Amino acid sequence: MSTPHEVVQDYYGRQLTATEDLKSTACCDASRTPAWLRALLGNIHPEVLSRYYGCGLVCPPLLEGCRVLDLGCGTGRDAYALSQLVGPRGEVLGVDMTEEQLAVAERHRAYHAERFGYANVRFERGFIEKLEALDLPPASFDVIVSNCVVNLSPDKPAVLKQVVRLLKPGGEFYFADVYADRRVPAAVRDDPVLYGECLGGALYWNDFLRLARAAGFADPRLVEDRPIALCDAELAARLEPIRFFSATWRLFRLEGLEDACEDHGQAVVYRGSIASCPARFDLDKHHRIESGRVFPVCGNTFRMLSESRFGPHFELIGDFSRHYGLFAGCDGGLPFDTEGPAAAGSGCC
Ligand SMILES: C[S@@+](CC[C@H](N)C(=O)[O-])C[C@H]1O[C@@H](n2cnc3c(N)ncnc32)[C@H](O)[C@@H]1O
Repeated sequence: MSTPHEVVQDYYGRQLTATEDLKSTACCDASRTPAWLRALLGNIHPEVLSRYYGCGLVCPPLLEGCRVLDLGCGTGRDAYALSQLVGPRGEVLGVDMTEEQLAVAERHRAYHAERFGYANVRFERGFIEKLEALDLPPASFDVIVSNCVVNLSPDKPAVLKQVVRLLKPGGEFYFADVYADRRVPAAVRDDPVLYGECLGGALYWNDFLRLARAAGFADPRLVEDRPIALCDAELAARLEPIRFFSATWRLFRLEGLEDACEDHGQAVVYRGSIASCPARFDLDKHHRIESGRVFPVCGNTFRMLSESRFGPHFELIGDFSRHYGLFAGCDGGLPFDTEGPAAAGSGCC
């Protein structure tokens, strides 16, 4: 009986030889590659590109000079794209447990160093649940990314624990993964092909939120998502009626984030000073902040923008000295009925 790690190593190390071998779009959807990324990919070796198995984009803005860790880097497509974004003052470390994947990544290190004009990428073999084995200093990464990997881990809380340990305060885990609209039954989870295809191990999205909060990420932010198409009819029939989605979340390692969006009367103004997005800064799916406009924010968003690498790019209005209740527009709201005797002025009882 193989362990989940062995199933995955076999699938990515021996069974798949190219992106086209996949049976769903859980990993890979080339149609969504934006122009800026296509330019970066144009500099990457074809063999690396041909064995890309990611499911989303893991390149947040403002990476220049950052130290980035890629969990489950595979053959290194994202690591080499990130290498160009962090530049010569930055550094990218890719970690993967599958020898064959890493061999491809390693084989082309010199090619990319020559092409970019600097060498800032390295790879290490390891398990993302056990990163202490790699002797990485705590709080040493500005950004941790991962593309279609966490679903494959048999111990997801351990992965998040490592992320918390390795992120600098104010740093973020920015990662794409596969989620289900419900808890995946054992028959799906235990099928090696469905597991390898990043479907069997996918978390029910609400369980992911619970897990993230338990790990210390009080306010996970959804950046983008898309439904996954199951191109193989037989596979689709076995999965009915579960729906799967690819989603990118960003989890900031910040003290003081609350479990709800609280209104302290604060606002921000984006200065338009990030070169890759002068007109608008997208924090997440619900916070698309136009340059120059006063944008009211809850306390958590205020902290994410002011206490992270984005701070210098925002004018900050207000502080935490007053509280006005729950931030309007966020999920939930006042749980109490506002209609009834008290509202009509009858006081107590
Ligand atoms: C779907 S592929 C994605 C690879 C890469 N991120 C990409 O976008 O091409 C999953 C990768 O995660 C690696 N992986 C899965 N579970 C892992 C674990 N527990 N520790 C380290 N690597 C893991 C696999 O070896 C494989 O290379």
